[in-house]
Amino acid sequence: MPPFQITEQPPPNLTSADTLRFVTRHAMQPLPQVLHYPPTSTVGDWWRDQIICGDSRVILQALPAECVHLVITSPPYNVGLDYDGHHDAMPYEQYLEWLMPFWREIQRVLVPGGRFALNITPTSIKDFKPVHYDMAAQLRGLGFIMRTEILWYKQTIRRRTAWGSWKSPRNPHVMPSWEYVLVFSKGSWILEGNPADADITGEEFIKFSDAFWHIHPETARRQPFLKSLYPPRGKKNAPANPPSARKTEGHPAPFPEELIYRLIKFYSYRGNVVLDPFGGTGTVATVATRTHRHFVHLDLSKKYCEIAAHRVATELRQMKLPYLCPLPPANRRQHGKSSSSV
Ligand SMILES: C[S@@+](CC[C@H](N)C(=O)[O-])C[C@H]1O[C@@H](n2cnc3c(N)ncnc32)[C@H](O)[C@@H]1O
Repeated sequence: MPPFQITEQPPPNLTSADTLRFVTRHAMQPLPQVLHYPPTSTVGDWWRDQIICGDSRVILQALPAECVHLVITSPPYNVGLDYDGHHDAMPYEQYLEWLMPFWREIQRVLVPGGRFALNITPTSIKDFKPVHYDMAAQLRGLGFIMRTEILWYKQTIRRRTAWGSWKSPRNPHVMPSWEYVLVFSKGSWILEGNPADADITGEEFIKFSDAFWHIHPETARRQPFLKSLYPPRGKKNAPANPPSARKTEGHPAPFPEELIYRLIKFYSYRGNVVLDPFGGTGTVATVATRTHRHFVHLDLSKKYCEIAAHRVATELRQMKLPYLCPLPPANRRQHGKSSSSV
């Protein structure tokens, strides 16, 4: 993938809309589509608090170095899910190779001491691959410090059929009912920040510092937008050959908001920038907005980006804010390179 290049740097103090227009004029290759959200933002950088639709390998290269404090993401799992526009079934080694440019860019855009929380699910039973070990090895190989591993217990097993050899040691199967959140730091364990912007309560700190997080996965009841991602069931004109069970899981595996809330509160300060390079339906952007952080949301799919923009807009309406709330002056002290324009 060629690097994203612009012929000139934009002058300072442009609004985000003007900066985007400038970058578009001076881009040496077509820019990704930016769904402006909020459309009248004047917070500065063209990428800040934006839903950006396109290949994040390219978009990440357009972001300045050291502008992000926390990355939370869940890459496509490569288990054949029916994503909108992404082929989710590469040979395993190719999949790992495909991820490397993302890891390098994440490392570049993080501030020193910035955190990377990587959510990854165990692979299938028969074709088991130690994907969490392999990704941890990739990231440690790049120099990331591995801080910890959080076990997100989902308790999703209701109807079991895949026992392997039932009641026999011949070949029994274990079913994972959890996912991992592997947490890394760039260069240092410490993330500098203004103590006044640490907004986690004592109760939350005690709860979140126990690495076993029992959180239910997202449901259509809690998040109505999920309904639009499932094919309609039992319709009269349904295809004669219904899609396979895998196909009906045609959703982007959205994060539960509670999971993101905990990671944001535990690992970042108010006013920090939180990036999700595989942002899907915008859970990270939504919760970052709610917790008074800035977000950068990237995703290949226009459909998911539109859902994300709608969720952020709804969040802001509920918070009664026209756009992301600037911090009160007392908290504006510079901490970390990019918080100067918070
Ligand atoms: C596991 S899902 C993430 C879902 C997200 N955590 C949420 O809460 O909705 C992975 C996402 O990666 C996106 N994706 C796949 N390849 C991509 C690429 N090259 N650049 C940007 N996004 C990509 C897919 O469209 C999908 O939404």
